[in-house]
Amino acid sequence: MKIAVLGTGGYVPKNIITNKDLETFVDTSDEWIVSRTGISERRIAKEETSTEMAYQATLMAMRNANVKPEDLGLIICSTFTPDSIIPGTSNDIQRLLGATCPAFDLNAACSGFIFALHTARKMFEGKPILVIGSEKLSRVTDWSDRNTCVLFGDGAGAVVIGAPEQNAESEILYSSISSYPDTDLVLAVGGMNACGEDGIVPSYILMNGTEVFKFATSVINENVKACLEAVGIEKEEIAWIVPHQANVRIVKNASSKLDIPYEKFYLNIANTGNTSSASVPFALNEMNEKGLLKKGDLVLLTAFGGGLSSATALLRW
Ligand code: ACO
Repeated sequence: MKIAVLGTGGYVPKNIITNKDLETFVDTSDEWIVSRTGISERRIAKEETSTEMAYQATLMAMRNANVKPEDLGLIICSTFTPDSIIPGTSNDIQRLLGATCPAFDLNAACSGFIFALHTARKMFEGKPILVIGSEKLSRVTDWSDRNTCVLFGDGAGAVVIGAPEQNAESEILYSSISSYPDTDLVLAVGGMNACGEDGIVPSYILMNGTEVFKFATSVINENVKACLEAVGIEKEEIAWIVPHQANVRIVKNASSKLDIPYEKFYLNIANTGNTSSASVPFALNEMNEKGLLKKGDLVLLTAFGGGLSSATALLRW
């Protein structure tokens, strides 16, 4: 059965924390953060919960897709920072919408949204599916650690996928997910939700930036090539690549290794920071709102993250 993106939505908190603000409480500088990451500011939730951000993104995506809660066949929310483990964020969204379809959460860190999209695609039985990525990373950020606190932000993104209108070109052409053992624990978050012994994994993001950087640049390269080969298209046919927004240098590296012009990679990290599984759907919605996506465009989504994990999808808009 043909399935396509029917609508997109996004939400970020109003509260902005600039690099200059960070300079007041950690030993860092705007110059270092911009040159090493491409980030100038990030949105940090004050009142907003993970569920509220997911709900705002959902309402926009449902309006944009012109889909009613009673039409939905499934809700999947990707998050590793839910307000509660049970009920999950997807259950909260089902309740807030007044929907009756099944709902479940999924966690594949920063690759989570594309994992959820892939799962939804495999579970599609004809009714529209709501796929969300929502993260309140500020809750698991060690604000005294300059190695990590400069990188992350809060936000949510959502899409509704379903059967495209008759004769419409739009379609999800490809999706793929991968996992790799994180033997040296280069990316970990424990915290109140972890069942392990205290002290094994701290309650905040623990990251070996250099190792994650090497992993990210290698998997983006492999995944984009694998996608092009599987679908049988040339890289020149891709209109846009929407990468996980983690570091501008990762994207520049991918652009040069893949020999795909940097301008084809959509970036909004300067204003959002890394919002984990919200980053790809939030960016996609921003592009949609700006009218950057034209009918028939081939749009490649690619992400990597904790687990370790990576995922890629190809949409015909
Ligand atoms: N301000 C100033 N100096 C800093 C800062 C900071 N905020 N952070 C680190 N430094 C210092 C380091 O202490 C180090 O100093 P030293 O040489 O005296 O020891 C120096 O800057 C260089 O540090 P590196 O770690 O080598 O810096 P690098 O250029 O590798 O950039 C970064 C670090 C930005 C973290 C990069 O490695 C990166 O982006 N990695 C990928 C992270 C990522 O993508 N995570 C995504 C997954 S997250 C998820 O799934 C939840």
